[in-house]
Parts: sequence; C-alpha cells; structure tokens
Amino acid sequence: MRVLVTGANGLVGSRLWTLLASKGHAVIALGRGPQRARAPGTYLSVDLADEHALSDAVHRARPEVIVNPGSLTDVDGCEAAPEAAFRVNAVAPGILALAARALGAHLLQVSTDYVFDGEAGPYGEDAIPNPRGVYALTKHAGEQAVRALAPSSAIARTAVVYGWPPAGRPNFGSWLLGALRKGEPVRLFEDQYVSPSLADSVAEQLAELAERRLGGVWNVCGAAVVNRVQFGQAMCAEFGLDAGVIVASLLAEAKLRAPRPARSGLLTDKAAAALAARPLGMAESLARFRRAVDAAEGGST
Ligand SMILES: NC(=O)c1ccc[n+]([C@@H]2O[C@H](COP(=O)([O-])OP(=O)(O)OC[C@H]3O[C@@H](n4cnc5c(N)ncnc54)[C@H](OP(=O)(O)O)[C@@H]3O)[C@@H](O)[C@H]2O)c1
Repeated sequence: MRVLVTGANGLVGSRLWTLLASKGHAVIALGRGPQRARAPGTYLSVDLADEHALSDAVHRARPEVIVNPGSLTDVDGCEAAPEAAFRVNAVAPGILALAARALGAHLLQVSTDYVFDGEAGPYGEDAIPNPRGVYALTKHAGEQAVRALAPSSAIARTAVVYGWPPAGRPNFGSWLLGALRKGEPVRLFEDQYVSPSLADSVAEQLAELAERRLGGVWNVCGAAVVNRVQFGQAMCAEFGLDAGVIVASLLAEAKLRAPRPARSGLLTDKAAAALAARPLGMAESLARFRRAVDAAEGGST
C-alpha cells in the first residue's frame, strides 16, 4: 500500500516507517526539518502547523493510508505554547482527515491516554475522555476532528512509549536506564499508574491497524498497568541493577506545569483479541528493550 506517515523522525513514527517499508509498503515520510530517521521511502520536510503545506503535501502524495503519530508531545511545553499545540495536535489531524476524505484514504490518528482525567483508570476504548491540560485538550480535539471529518478512520491511543535507540530525545525508558546505571537516587512516582509501551510493539500494532484499515478506537500499548516505581524495579531486575536507588515520590506533590492523570493506563483486551500484533506484557517488553540496548552496546549492559 501507499502509506503516508507523519512524525517520521519521532520515536513511534521512525519505527513505523522502518517497519512498513520492510513489509514492502511505499512510505511517504513527513518530518520536521532534515531527515534524521533512516528507512526506505520518500522523506518530505513539512511543518504540521502549516495547514496549506500539509494539505498540499498529502494531496500530492496521494496515499491510500495516512498514519499520524506526529504531535507536540512535550506535555509541559504544550502548556507554555497552547497555540502551537493546538495547530499540531488538533488542527493538523483535521487537515489530514479532510485530505483522507477527499482522497478516499484511510486515516489512523495516534492519540494518548492523557485524554482521560486519571480518576478511574485503566480505561477501555469506550471510556469517556475528560482531558486536563493543553496537551490533553488538544490531543482530544484532534480525535474529535478526525471523528467528525473522517468517520471511518481509526484512533489509536497509546501511553508512556519507550524504546532503544531513542529517536533524538530521551524517552522514559532510555532516561530511566541511564539514571539507574549512574547508581544515584532516582525519584519515581508511586501514585501514577500507566501502561508502559515498547515503541516497537506500538509500531507493530499500528502497522497492522493500517494494513487492515480497521476503524474505531484502539488502545495500542503495553498490556501491564503499573506505577512508575514498579516499572523502575522491573527494569532493574531485567538489567541486573540495584533497585535500592529508586526513591518513591508522589505525583500529587510534584510541581509540574501540566496536570497528569494519576490512575491512568489503558485496557488492551480489544487489541489482544483482534490483532496478530498483540500487546506485550512488561517482562517481554523489557526483555526486547534490553536486547536492543545490548545490540547497540555490543553485548554489554
Ligand atoms: N511518547 C509517549 O510517551 C506517548 C504517550 C502517549 C501518546 N503518545 C502519542 O504517540 C504519538 C507519537 O509520539 P512519540 O513518542 O513518537 O513522540 P515524538 O518522538 O515526540 O514524535 C513526534 C514527532 O512529531 C514531530 N513534530 C512535532 N511538531 C511538528 C511540526 N510542527 N511539524 C512537523 N513535525 C512535527 C516531532 O518532530 P521533531 O522530531 O522535529 O521534534 C517528532 O518527530 C503522538 O501522537 C503522541 O501524542 C506518545
């Protein structure tokens, strides 16, 4: 298939690009600035905040499927730049939906568990969003734009994505491994429950959703819901590191610019039942993460 992937230099987008190309699909990869990820296909530098440039690029590319992991993902940064966040996270999905509608293409919009308030997670696909903070509000607005303009499209919500190698900037997993290896105290929230999600597994599930042109809402993430301390302990166990350096702290007491859902996480029963690319448990995810680190470091951890 001819598939357009946004956020092509990002953590999820770069892996999705590589995976789709390896499966023989013709990928048109949209990223910001120079190409940083390396995979077969056509790379175009397109600013998602530029409505005309984005619409023009998609119409010229004439994709059969569009996947949109491109996003302003800096949660606190979005709080400081609501206009940019709205353009990229809410308007751009609407532009992509309009183009998909005009071209008869299938659209897969990547979203987040942050659309929920975190009062009563983990959440299934039918749970009612109640976003808090600019990132969450704009991601939810992006979902709504896609639903209104391209009703047969899909929305894939993911959560706390981590992977090795990091794509440019550190992700939760790569940061945590680096911090734990230093042997200095590492503060992690014990009152924030999340679904840690291996980026390669997220890309595999997204690729299948795209190939099968499945519509509706999908939770596309890891199968385990844990707090961040538990995730840190599991990483220590996988890498043979001292979990004693982990210091439990409280999200409720942290002075973060943007609000975070506390009891979040996503239920994965739907994807587990319907997709061949099943959501992974935490041990399996961390083992794959470790193999990627080992491969990059020539076998040492
Ligand atoms: N990472 C997580 O923990 C997490 C959790 C829940 C949901 N999600 C969702 O998953 C999706 C993928 O996230 P990710 O982890 O891959 O994030 P990421 O690594 O930050 O990737 C997002 C990509 O979007 C690009 N982008 C941002 N603004 C742009 C603009 N104006 N024009 C063109 N490109 C622009 C970024 O470009 P640059 O590389 O140049 O910055 C980046 O490559 C997003 O929709 C996100 O909301 C992620």
